Amino acid sequence: LYFNKEQGLRMAKNIRSIYNKVVSTLSKPLVIKRTSLARHKNPPEIRFLYEETPEIKLMASRVAAPYPNTKFYVVSDIHYYAKSLGTEGSDWEKVAGRDRKLFAESDEIVSELVKDINRHRCDFVLITGDMTKDGERLCHEKLIEHLNKIKKPVYVVPGNHDILNPDACSFHGRKEAVPTIDHNEFLELYHNFGYSRAVSRDPASLSYMVEIKKDLCLLALDTTWPVTKIPNELIVDGKLSESSWRWAEEQLIWAKSNNKAVFAALHHPFLEHWQGQISFMPEYIIENHRRLVDLFLTYSVRVGFVGHFHAQDVSMYQGKWRRLYQIMTGSPISYPCSYRRMAFQNNRLIGLTFHIKRIPSYPNSLIFNNYARRKLRQAVRENTEKPLKLMGVKKADREKIIESGADAFQANYAGNEKAAGRSYQPILPPKNQLGFMGRLALKALGYVIEGMWADDSLFGDNNFELPLGN
Ligand SMILES: [Fe+2]
Ligand SMILES: [Fe+2]
Repeated sequence: LYFNKEQGLRMAKNIRSIYNKVVSTLSKPLVIKRTSLARHKNPPEIRFLYEETPEIKLMASRVAAPYPNTKFYVVSDIHYYAKSLGTEGSDWEKVAGRDRKLFAESDEIVSELVKDINRHRCDFVLITGDMTKDGERLCHEKLIEHLNKIKKPVYVVPGNHDILNPDACSFHGRKEAVPTIDHNEFLELYHNFGYSRAVSRDPASLSYMVEIKKDLCLLALDTTWPVTKIPNELIVDGKLSESSWRWAEEQLIWAKSNNKAVFAALHHPFLEHWQGQISFMPEYIIENHRRLVDLFLTYSVRVGFVGHFHAQDVSMYQGKWRRLYQIMTGSPISYPCSYRRMAFQNNRLIGLTFHIKRIPSYPNSLIFNNYARRKLRQAVRENTEKPLKLMGVKKADREKIIESGADAFQANYAGNEKAAGRSYQPILPPKNQLGFMGRLALKALGYVIEGMWADDSLFGDNNFELPLGN
């Protein structure tokens, strides 16, 4: 058998291209579709009211009122757990021991939070959902005892953990189901936290519109799934029903035509807050998010407060006429235990971030911070180790990938990722230090880690001053 040089080169090229093809199909970035119920496209049949009549279209294009000056607190994802439901046994270890959240300390954390809120001047407090660990009735009641101590009005929206949650359980030795609440019970329990002051309530959901002070309105959106579609499974995704979309638009038409400035609060984010999130974690963005962005921009909602991901983050969408900011607030019970003090001032949004630094059972701030950080890193490990093992990634490589993933989460949760000084260290473990399967895994997951690190906003995620325009 004899090949000349040209034939030999051609053959080598072919073999290389086949090899590249095999590697690239095996190691496509991991895009998860199965876990998400949400659709992230704008279905073509959807029409906005403003598209239907020239009057509304004209009104929508008009300049909006500036935001009246006001000071407020934003807290998200409290995930309150009443310790009287028990913290013992292997079931508790399985559920809470491996969770990023400090359930057992949540009561102390909320006490600190309420103390801080009452010490400072503010006009109201906003809580963007996930009030309880898993929608346990008792946890809602105990949290409300704390909220009743806040001397200012409190406005809440429900999160995906709060209603009809199949995971509502007690842990006295072993796991046992406890009562959760339905939509009506949420409304009864939180009557004084938004609903009693509402100028309008959505008949189809727990959304409401409230005039917080003269010419300043809060559009509080319930983005939880209306029914448990999958029995015994917690739904993480967010959506609005068709009638809720319409109700929300009617509220915005009313506000804009009466020269009222509107900001929004909802549990689920409407903008991707790190590049690649929508592929890897689609349940962390509300279904049809572009439709919501369009709706907000059309009616001059220039700020929306969200939670759900437990990260400190600011994202911005530049529309044709105005900007829309998404302010995501972390959880006081997961690292680094953040909450925000905010102000509308001269039509700018000024934000400051604070952290729960110590609680009675952890009086040393360094030890408390380490404890919260360890919990987060442990949770990343729990979620990645098994799939990597199944892929056949060897132990040493798994360690490297898990550590780099934990670093990314830790930085992302705290906000201001690049400023955290990672630029002098490699973000991903160097490829030449990994085996073949390790390299494939990194190809599939690397974009998530890189996306999280690259998430610095132009304005800063923690402390910022944003011009709101009109
Ligand atoms: Fe949450
Ligand atoms: Fe959530």
